[in-house]
Amino acid sequence: MRPTPPPRTYRVKSFGCQMNVYDGERMAELLADQGIAPAPEGEEADLVVLNTCHIREKAAEKVYSDIGRLRREDGTAPLIAVAGCVAQAEGEEIMTRAPSVSMVVGPQAYHRLPQMIADAIEGRRAVDTDMPARTKFDVLPARRKVGPSAFLTVQEGCDKFCTYCVVPYTRGAEISRPFNDLVIEAEKLVDAGAREITLLGQNVNAWRDEAGRGLEKLVEALAAIPALARIRYTTSHPNDMTEGLIAAHRDVEKLMPFLHLPVQAGSDRVLKAMNRSHTAESYMRVLDRVRAVRPDIALSGDFIVGFPGETEAEFAETIKLVETVGYAQCFSFKYSPRPGTPAATMDGQVPAAVMDERLQRLQAALNASQLAFNRASVGKRCTVLVERRGKLDGQWLGKSPWLQSVHFIGEAAIGDLIEVELVEAGPNSLSARLLQPAHA
Ligand code: SAH
Ligand code: SF4
Ligand code: F3S
Repeated sequence: MRPTPPPRTYRVKSFGCQMNVYDGERMAELLADQGIAPAPEGEEADLVVLNTCHIREKAAEKVYSDIGRLRREDGTAPLIAVAGCVAQAEGEEIMTRAPSVSMVVGPQAYHRLPQMIADAIEGRRAVDTDMPARTKFDVLPARRKVGPSAFLTVQEGCDKFCTYCVVPYTRGAEISRPFNDLVIEAEKLVDAGAREITLLGQNVNAWRDEAGRGLEKLVEALAAIPALARIRYTTSHPNDMTEGLIAAHRDVEKLMPFLHLPVQAGSDRVLKAMNRSHTAESYMRVLDRVRAVRPDIALSGDFIVGFPGETEAEFAETIKLVETVGYAQCFSFKYSPRPGTPAATMDGQVPAAVMDERLQRLQAALNASQLAFNRASVGKRCTVLVERRGKLDGQWLGKSPWLQSVHFIGEAAIGDLIEVELVEAGPNSLSARLLQPAHA
């Protein structure tokens, strides 16, 4: 590669989960610290970071078309860094397949971007997919301006090894960040404007500190930050829903009544083949315990249809589970074989047409469930955290405590917590009327 001038502007494009969004923000802060400015909207950046996701085949393939699209008419391209889970999984292969890429950096190594950029300027390409003992969190710069709802990664990696999933390979073993570091970062986020913090981890409810304290202790500590109004956490594993964390849904007012607890499938045979280590029944018992302390909790989940060997009868058990639970929202996916995972070579791969048809039926059931949940919310009074302006004059958009999108017309500002009554429900959002004038 030829030497290039130092980049003056950057753009970070994040795909995949919220942890990637968090990493993307941290990379942006790191680049800003190097004196590189965010590229203005609509203008080409000198440095583009593609912060990628490897969870399903389509997500991973997208990277190469995105790289291709960065090429300019004269055949040149900006400096390109591929970060995230595709970087971790494919490493050197990206360098071979995409000569215009000068940096490949994994999710645990991106704090080394400044050095990699310095090398790239001099024409040296570099791959860094280390998982160093001294973590990125120890060296990243302080948090800056954030929106009213901010993410905070508390736990990374996964030791569960579900047979379909790449995360244990791309993000490495489970690590929990230290309690005090997290409280400090939360305080910085609040100082920078956050009213709500969502604690993130691939298995966020497996978070434990050095003293063995569980996530509820962290939630309690953050609840003591006066200007922080709301706390959420995602994603949780059914087997790590402890008594203490469930009790926090009763005892900590700032902990929002929402739980994302993926089940993946309704058939115990499929769950076993997935290595989920819970049954449909044990999952339902966890939900019962949470509902016992917080009857209004909104439930959410993830589903995979067409896991190898899934029969029509087994799929029907997934639909039955959905109808029993009454989810407020959900994500559902067609099974995607991932290289290196045990399920990719299992017998009984389900034909694409069957998966399509099952996904449609599942989504119809999930949509009906979501609409029913929203309709049941009409008439409730609650707060809305205002996140942005709506399309109509004087309209604002925000989230209810149950993570529903809510719109209303009236006096407000971004970051306000506004008292409203929910008046009308659609499948994806609700409208509300103001109960009192805005307070800052
Ligand atoms: N740690 C979380 C989420 C991991 S990834 C959990 O355990 O639930 C987010 C979701 O992607 C998963 O819950 C699963 O539904 C889906 N997913 C993961 N691997 C997949 C694959 N190979 N094909 C289709 N969906 C997959
Ligand atoms: Fe993947 Fe399973 Fe770990 Fe979730 S718990 S990240 S689905 S291996
Ligand atoms: Fe994707 Fe990696 Fe997140 S594979 S879902 S970006 S952990």
